[in-house]
Amino acid sequence: MALYELLRPALFRLPAETAHELGKLALRTGGATESTRRALRYAYGYEHPALEVELLGTTFPNPVGVAAGFDKNAEVTHALAALGFGFVEVGTVTPYPQPGNERPRLFRLPADGAMVNRMGFNGHGAERVKDRLETGGLPPRPVGVNVGKMNTSNAEEAIEDYRRVFDRLYPYPDYFVVNVSCPNTPETFDQQSPEHLRAIFETLEDENPEEKPVLVKIGPDAPESSILELLEIVEQFDLDGIVATNTTTARDGLTEDPREWGGLSGKPLEGRSTEVVRLLAANTDLPIVGVGGVDSAESAYAKIRAGASLVQLYTGFVYRGPSTASEINRGLVALLERDGFSSVEEAVGADLE
Ligand SMILES: Cc1cc2nc3c(=O)[nH]c(=O)nc-3n(C[C@H](O)[C@H](O)[C@H](O)COP(=O)(O)O)c2cc1C
Repeated sequence: MALYELLRPALFRLPAETAHELGKLALRTGGATESTRRALRYAYGYEHPALEVELLGTTFPNPVGVAAGFDKNAEVTHALAALGFGFVEVGTVTPYPQPGNERPRLFRLPADGAMVNRMGFNGHGAERVKDRLETGGLPPRPVGVNVGKMNTSNAEEAIEDYRRVFDRLYPYPDYFVVNVSCPNTPETFDQQSPEHLRAIFETLEDENPEEKPVLVKIGPDAPESSILELLEIVEQFDLDGIVATNTTTARDGLTEDPREWGGLSGKPLEGRSTEVVRLLAANTDLPIVGVGGVDSAESAYAKIRAGASLVQLYTGFVYRGPSTASEINRGLVALLERDGFSSVEEAVGADLE
């Protein structure tokens, strides 16, 4: 039995956010020096040429990344890379520090392999994240920065928020993600409205001299027509891809009492997020990053076959522990071989044909 399986019952007796903080402490220790990172890579690393993905102007050593929210403040980026994740998305980073919602705000639903969170963009702010990325350096694999707004900002202020985070962190990541899909921040306006999206993308276009890839992260709850409308705007502004999806406010398919409000992640989201990936892939050639309920090679492969060039996970990592990335990657290689694909890239969108 893996060590994490032995520790998990004790961790799961703690409040979810306390367990998360303990996990991060362990990861901070694991990622602290080159020799501890080497030890993690030795224990958990897995490489295979079939897993490499050329995308967004860079090489992803494998398609399995850490979704936004886990490493909000760039504190454990090195450790996550050393655990074998192909890339790490830092953030959501807001322009200034903010405490987020009151605790408790993170809940596990173990019988459903799910979590509900209403963290509300708690974070250290762009300046501290910048310092960390500057002094700690970047891991030897792609890093994205997910950009958000302050909870108190109105539509106009939000544009300035995105611009500020983008500007402060511009030199560091391989790509940026504009997050317009957090379901648990207090909203006074529609973040995914066409007018708002146009205003954000126009502003960031002017702030992007090196033409760094900019993606947008969308939610799973909008109707098909709105998702397709958003896709049109994304193409109009020459964005570089779409991250699909964020958490859902729906509560379908749960066996546990979902009394807490917030965004639902994990297994119950898997089907819907894969559907959104498929809808997007059927309507665009833009790269898609599939996220929602990925916790195994099979679930990662389903997103890839539906059209995702890369996948990400958060909840699956909480349930599966430090060997998650290497297990998924090993399994992916076996599934590719089984189906006669020589690489992940060849399998992208296989179910659409
Ligand atoms: C505790 C928690 C915090 C999250 N914070 C963010 C965030 O700050 N920004 C963001 O774009 N997504 C955030 N997410 C959403 C994840 O990135 C992901 O889109 C979602 O959880 C679905 O993936 P999963 O089923 O693998 O967890 C968060 C998710 C969880 C569970």
